Amino acid sequence: MNSQHADVENTTPVFEPGSTPERYTITSALPYANGPVHIGHLAGVYVPADIYARYLRSRGRDVIFIGGSDEHGVPITIQARKRHTTPQAIVDQYHALIKDSFEKFGISFDIYSRTSTRIHAQTASAFFKTLYDKGCFIEKTSLQYYDEENHQFLADRYITGTCPHCHSEGAYGDQCEKCGSALSPDELIDPRSTISGNRPVKKETKHWYLPLDRYEDFLRKWILEGHKDDWKTNVYGQCKSWIDQGLLPRAVTRDLDWGVPLPLPDTEGKVLYVWFDAPIGYISATKELKPDAWEKYWKDKKTKLVHFIGKDNIVFHCIIFPCMLKAEGSYVLPDNVPANEFLNLEGEKISTSKNWAVWLHEYLEDFPGKQDVLRYVLTANAPETKDNDFTWKDFQARNNNELLAVFGNFVNRTVVLTHKYFEGKVPEVPDPAFTETDREYLREMCAYPEKIAASLEAYRFREGLNELMNLARLGNKYLTDNEPWKLFKSDPERVKVILNLSLQIAAHLAVLCEPFLPFTAKKLCGILDLPKLPWDEATRTCLLEGGHPLNPAEFLFEKIEDEAIQKQMDKLEEAKKANRMQATPRYEPQKASVNFEDFGKMDLRVARITAAEKVAKTKKLLKLTLETGLDTRTVVSGIAECYTPEEVIGKKVCLLANLEPKELKGILSHGMILMSENPDGKLCFVEPSPEAEVGMQIR
Ligand code: 2FM
Ligand code: ZN
Repeated sequence: MNSQHADVENTTPVFEPGSTPERYTITSALPYANGPVHIGHLAGVYVPADIYARYLRSRGRDVIFIGGSDEHGVPITIQARKRHTTPQAIVDQYHALIKDSFEKFGISFDIYSRTSTRIHAQTASAFFKTLYDKGCFIEKTSLQYYDEENHQFLADRYITGTCPHCHSEGAYGDQCEKCGSALSPDELIDPRSTISGNRPVKKETKHWYLPLDRYEDFLRKWILEGHKDDWKTNVYGQCKSWIDQGLLPRAVTRDLDWGVPLPLPDTEGKVLYVWFDAPIGYISATKELKPDAWEKYWKDKKTKLVHFIGKDNIVFHCIIFPCMLKAEGSYVLPDNVPANEFLNLEGEKISTSKNWAVWLHEYLEDFPGKQDVLRYVLTANAPETKDNDFTWKDFQARNNNELLAVFGNFVNRTVVLTHKYFEGKVPEVPDPAFTETDREYLREMCAYPEKIAASLEAYRFREGLNELMNLARLGNKYLTDNEPWKLFKSDPERVKVILNLSLQIAAHLAVLCEPFLPFTAKKLCGILDLPKLPWDEATRTCLLEGGHPLNPAEFLFEKIEDEAIQKQMDKLEEAKKANRMQATPRYEPQKASVNFEDFGKMDLRVARITAAEKVAKTKKLLKLTLETGLDTRTVVSGIAECYTPEEVIGKKVCLLANLEPKELKGILSHGMILMSENPDGKLCFVEPSPEAEVGMQIR
């Protein structure tokens, strides 16, 4: 045990909740670079984070939006072993793929870095060393599971066994995926090495632990008292339950050869635990982005730090990382951690291993140019307060009935009519021409920036999107109520007013949709020939002056046909089929060899069942009468649970004719019928082909 002991200090700069931030540091969970990213990632973390960052930029705030790949940890080394390659090759492949997918979906990171960089190793090492020097760790030698065949300590996913809580098999050394419990390898029942399948032995090793128990008072005050009202209930609830359960010291080092090496003497083969180094990745990425100005984004109390994550990361971002920051002493703590719940797909949990997912790189191929449709659907249906379901039917309906029928249709009608009646120029309208009802519409339009802002500032992205669509609905209603196409002949002056007002709504939509639908915003600005305007401009009535020329109309959205949806459903059906095949239980291994002479001793023949009856007081036995070509004989067979006597009468079968006679329930059986059996015990006849005659020998 290390005798030094640092008190939890009180020097941490704290952002005053409710005060006006001078800058925002927005982080989004660093995905593991051991597979592609899917819609669950986008819905849970990256789309909401991107909406927030884009919105704040539009308001002229100082924002950095940080992303990157998490390139350490056991799953990556396991995958490298499986594919007979190096962890570096795995992370290089997936980092590039993930980065590309995010870029193509318009996720506007200021930097998308990775944790295998030199600057990250330096930053994470230095952070560890600071805590070490301050005496923030407990040093402990203990017995840990070890795979003797592979010379490897078995932490985290290197060890699997039965979960002590839900008793499901295949729980890992750090977590049971079935019931979600956090575990330590010692808790697993019947543990096995995932590398060799062997039973591990115990071996002594030394590790460094962050004594989370010493931070309980700080956490209670900071979260349970300080953030009761502004953190989401799901996040607050999880934190409370962790704190109330009592926190234990948590190992922050591992015996592995992949990760950030420990910056201490005589610690070869030891690295930082991936969950120690990964969140420090946010800091390293900021250093990479702003080498001379990074500190103010992390250490100034006027900085608002917000972590966007999925619910499985709550404990790390709300408890462990803040304790690390607190221990270090000079960093701000997160002001909010708006974690989302999970997105399911067609009623089932998204699963990488079962290929039950919509992969972003595949979506981009199947729906080119439709990134905003997915962004829209994932926001409209975001798992903000509970797990939600993505279905392809809903995706199609939201595109066809909302984006296309409401937003796209409104803009298109407005622009097309302006071209038709006024040579594509915004009609000039003298102010008195607007009626009181028109003015009411204009007032309502100008209230949207504030309404949407209120939702976004409170991390209610679904609500914000719904408000945006209400603005499009307002436009649609205005056009439908006023029917300019019916008025042009009789009252062209009135049509000028109607189209001017409709175009103002379209321009407001262009400004306010940008955080949600950045590609659409760009296209709409192109059609309206409008520069990208800041958010607050949309509180003004007139964004398009009379006489301003528009560009030709273009469709913002296209109808998604049933065939495209069916193709996606078929893809999922394929995945299901492949899983069923894989899930088919394995068969008994092959028995020891027999020589040909032994095989030749068996007299196998084609025979026919001519009579059958159940053997009294047994469940399994049928008494069969067989024609063998040699004789008529009795065979007792254990097939009664699978076949009725009526079903078998007349069947041609394969008979082992020279099996020693045996008495079963008082009946002498002369031979045995060949049956195949699946692992569930279901029996099937091995049937000779139709042309095989009774009495023929089988060899
Ligand atoms: O759950 C995950 O995918 C982790 N790789 C998230 C890490 S977030 C942060 F700490 F880097
Ligand atoms: Zn469990």
